[in-house]
Amino acid sequence: MRINYLFFVILTRAVHTTLGATYYRTSQLAGQSFLDAFNFQAISDPTNGRVTYVDESTAQADGLVSVANNKLTLRADYTTRLSSSDPGRKSFRIQSNSQYTTHVAIFDIAHMPQGCGTWPAVCEVGGNWPNEGEVDIVEGVNDQTPNRCSLHTSSGCTMPSSRSMTGTVDGTDCSAYDNYNAGCGVEFNDNLSYGPNFNNNGGGWYAVERSSSYIKVFFWERTSGSVPSDVKSPGSSINTSNWGTPVAYFPSTDCNFSTYFGAHNIIINLTFCGDWAGSSSAYSASGCPSTCVDYVNNNPSAFSNAYFEFNSLNIYQ
Ligand SMILES: *[C@@H]1O[C@H](CO)[C@@H](O)[C@H](O)[C@H]1NC(C)=O
Ligand SMILES: *[C@@H]1O[C@H](CO)[C@@H](O)[C@H](O)[C@H]1NC(C)=O
Ligand SMILES: *[C@@H]1O[C@H](CO)[C@@H](O)[C@H](O)[C@H]1NC(C)=O
Ligand SMILES: *[C@@H]1O[C@H](CO)[C@@H](O)[C@H](O)[C@H]1NC(C)=O
Repeated sequence: MRINYLFFVILTRAVHTTLGATYYRTSQLAGQSFLDAFNFQAISDPTNGRVTYVDESTAQADGLVSVANNKLTLRADYTTRLSSSDPGRKSFRIQSNSQYTTHVAIFDIAHMPQGCGTWPAVCEVGGNWPNEGEVDIVEGVNDQTPNRCSLHTSSGCTMPSSRSMTGTVDGTDCSAYDNYNAGCGVEFNDNLSYGPNFNNNGGGWYAVERSSSYIKVFFWERTSGSVPSDVKSPGSSINTSNWGTPVAYFPSTDCNFSTYFGAHNIIINLTFCGDWAGSSSAYSASGCPSTCVDYVNNNPSAFSNAYFEFNSLNIYQ
């Protein structure tokens, strides 16, 4: 009897740690308020891309950022042909003014950058990389579907190989120093989660939930019949317990979150080529023409769809 009771307690605890929680909205961002909550980082690309990250006044002057109908659009230059001596294609890298630890962020995305050579990302990153951790929510290269999300940390954080999630494990060692920084990834089982397929389907909702004991990434296609009501129409509070099984579940079982994850900024960026998109294996495997840098230099009009359009970003804590 006693033993049975003990097992019951252990079992309920184990189940409960994967359940969600209730959170309250601290930011409701769309259009101009979304833009105002971020700053442009005109830095050199840490991933060695064929890119020039511009400051906000350049982005405004060149039409790389715009607000219309309460939507925020961020794009790369698609009119300039570059010579090999020019710096890279102009693009954006924006960082949230605020930092977050435990929170939920719901990104309602109408369109993401597409095109050969593109490498867009929506991520959450701490300072002193990789010591305070990184969560890549949306990331991919060269229009290859589906999406792959991942964690990147200092050495010693790993993920169990079997977890309660709909995605597929692609790496269990989160250390940025191993496996060329592939991180502990999870590949989505949904080709509408990324690139042209995502865009042609009207985009969708990405959400990340970070608690003290897990990080979860969720995705719902625009046309899905199972989008939770508090995701579809974000209100003043949400209850992630009703969101179903996440695409990616990263528990703290073998990764002490207080050691590996600090306060994070949200970063939204778009580079070209570089360490991943431009690697000869990734670029040629995607069926893209020529070489990545040559293609990006010489085909500006190929990047007319290299843009993010955000309907909103709601943050709960
Ligand atoms: C976007 O920024 C994050 C944080 O610095 C970085 O980890 C990621 O590789 C960047 N992605 C691209 C495509 O530049
Ligand atoms: C996604 O597309 C790839 C390439 O066309 C295909 O091999 C794969 O089976 C598709 N996956 C899903 C989940 O539909
Ligand atoms: C959140 O949803 C779960 C599952 O439906 C429910 O048990 C719990 O009471 C809800 N929490 C709140 C605060 O409503
Ligand atoms: C995680 O690390 C923190 C800070 O180093 C420590 O206080 C805590 O006991 C650790 N938790 C576990 C479960 O090991």
